[in-house]
Amino acid sequence: MTANNLCDRLRIAVVIGSVRTPRLADPLAGWLERELAALDWADIDMIDLASVSLPMRELRARGAAPSPIAGRLAAADGFVLLTPEYNHSFPASVKNMIDWHLIEWAYKPVGFVAYGSSGGIRAVEQLRAVFPELRAATVRESVLLAMAWNHLDTTGRFNPPPGTVEALHAMMNELATWARALRSARAVDLVGRP
Ligand SMILES: Cc1cc2nc3c(=O)[nH]c(=O)nc-3n(C[C@H](O)[C@H](O)[C@H](O)COP(=O)(O)O)c2cc1C
Repeated sequence: MTANNLCDRLRIAVVIGSVRTPRLADPLAGWLERELAALDWADIDMIDLASVSLPMRELRARGAAPSPIAGRLAAADGFVLLTPEYNHSFPASVKNMIDWHLIEWAYKPVGFVAYGSSGGIRAVEQLRAVFPELRAATVRESVLLAMAWNHLDTTGRFNPPPGTVEALHAMMNELATWARALRSARAVDLVGRP
């Protein structure tokens, strides 16, 4: 993978959006984690929403417990969201996680690895309409995995079809470019920053 070695390492949080049991997210997250571990410019933090409690009724409620992942999101320079498509959109678990946070997203890039029967493109396009409200920037490149269940080996491990790894590298390189630029931007006092 091309190293973006203009300056320091970047901290990238990968959010696993499906909370179902069982779920295709597991082999896909395993593959993603293995690929991203090989990046020489990134420190990867895998955040699994299935093991995080974000009760909807406590969403930004006065006196509610703080988000257990706010610190990890705040520490990230950029995000990769692994999301399935449910009914031509993204899952409620993903929207709930987005809504639970605010400043943690601001002036940071978000890339998508999406999957579903049709590759999850409708989930991605709808997420592109959501993130600007949080002052997050979505990157153009994405990874779209159609019928990924056809690419599991006998042990359940995901073997990506041709072009997938290249698409991931393209997305991560773009994410790195934006993450470095926006890290500099966050260092100054921006007008309108929440
Ligand atoms: C409630 C539900 C709705 C779905 N709707 C779509 C859809 O609109 N488009 C699509 O491509 N796949 C759809 N799927 C297929 C899922 O993307 C696929 O089952 C995927 O593996 C789910 O990810 P998960 O197992 O990690 O939760 C749907 C699945 C579920 C459970």
